[in-house]
Amino acid sequence: RPQPGEVALFSVSSYACQRRTTLDNHNSNLTDALSLLAENAELSNEDGRGVAFRRAAALLKALPTQVISMSQLRGLPCLGEHSLRVIKDVLENGVSSEVESTKQSKRYKALKILTGIFGVGAKTADRWIREGIYNLEQLRDSGQTLNRAQKAGLEHYDDLNEPVTKAEADAIGEIVQKAVNSVLPGSEVALTGGFRRGKLTGHDVDFLITHPEEGKEVGLMPKVVAWLESQGFLLYQKTTRNSYLESKDGPARPASNMDRFERCFSIFKLTKRKEQESTQPEEQNDLKTEDVLRPHMQADTDQQLCELSKNYQMEAASHKIWRAVRVDLVVSPISQFAFAVLGWTGSKLFERELRRWAGHEKNMSLSSHALFDNTQNKYLRATSEEEIFAYLGLEYIPPSERNA
Ligand code: GTP
Ligand code: MN
Ligand code: MN
Repeated sequence: RPQPGEVALFSVSSYACQRRTTLDNHNSNLTDALSLLAENAELSNEDGRGVAFRRAAALLKALPTQVISMSQLRGLPCLGEHSLRVIKDVLENGVSSEVESTKQSKRYKALKILTGIFGVGAKTADRWIREGIYNLEQLRDSGQTLNRAQKAGLEHYDDLNEPVTKAEADAIGEIVQKAVNSVLPGSEVALTGGFRRGKLTGHDVDFLITHPEEGKEVGLMPKVVAWLESQGFLLYQKTTRNSYLESKDGPARPASNMDRFERCFSIFKLTKRKEQESTQPEEQNDLKTEDVLRPHMQADTDQQLCELSKNYQMEAASHKIWRAVRVDLVVSPISQFAFAVLGWTGSKLFERELRRWAGHEKNMSLSSHALFDNTQNKYLRATSEEEIFAYLGLEYIPPSERNA
């Protein structure tokens, strides 16, 4: 117990998968700064730096109280020299000068805008920036060839950059459940990703689909997608058998995250519920982003353009009775379901730390498909997440405490 005038010292495990990290973050001033630098590093293909900042941020998220002094951080793991400098800056000056200058930089702003397009990763954005493209207008004017994902991403840019709510996630869950039941009765749908961890908003909605009878799930994804398409629920979809093919079209993922599940990246057309109870999409009042943006061409000052943009966006919003939402669907055989649920619940750092723990501390290999024990030279079967944690010698951490 600290005496008055003294500060508390923390004791924290070094792997994020050994810690309980809820959404109740007492150090968001610090973690926001570190997360922005992590993001900037990732967008600049400096993955090592990105992970270092992510680990530092995750450690601070797990602390039970707000850090007010550098002395409280003595002896804590995961805090490198660079992260400590950033933390010190924020504690002393309220902001980090490095974060502020990054936020202001032309390159960071452009990377944010361009990778905000579904289907555009850091590499593509970097290439465009080197060709002088910093925003959507310049991209449109450049005549760059866009792939199908990027075209859809640009068309639904505003919708896809607006956070998805839990209510919207639930509405989509009902639709997916209905689709799955229609094409293969008895199938099960699980909500994964951030919403399973209790987040109130997300950048997409993630679902895992399986069937209690092994093998029944084979060929399920194309049927589900065909059903959704026939009902007019899909604005875009790309189904892949093997995710190594994704990098060309879908958002880029680090190789360690790759798996071989049947997977569908999609954009749903979700009817807004306030205006109408039905989840059935409507064709009327189908105002396209293009129609909204075309009048921009007539504006001759930035001020005018901004005014026009606001007016048209408001008009578009008031007419549109549906919105675009990113949805990820994955099909797993029941024998791999526990591993798939664990692998798709996240957070990304929590997953990365689980795999690092398995490899470095247990001589095991964990993926979204299986757990292999390199010492015993055998696969370890599991039907629940609890069993997997137990194999790994870890205390069970429920989804709501995996928000590292
Ligand atoms: P938001 O969607 O931003 O709210 O957060 P989220 O945690 O749901 O992130 P996201 O939808 O990107 O990913 C959800 C989980 O799926 C994370 O744990 C990822 O690591 C995992 N994931 C994403 N893509 C892949 C993939 O290609 N393979 C595997 N195995 N896992 C993936
Ligand atoms: Mn998600
Ligand atoms: Mn996702």
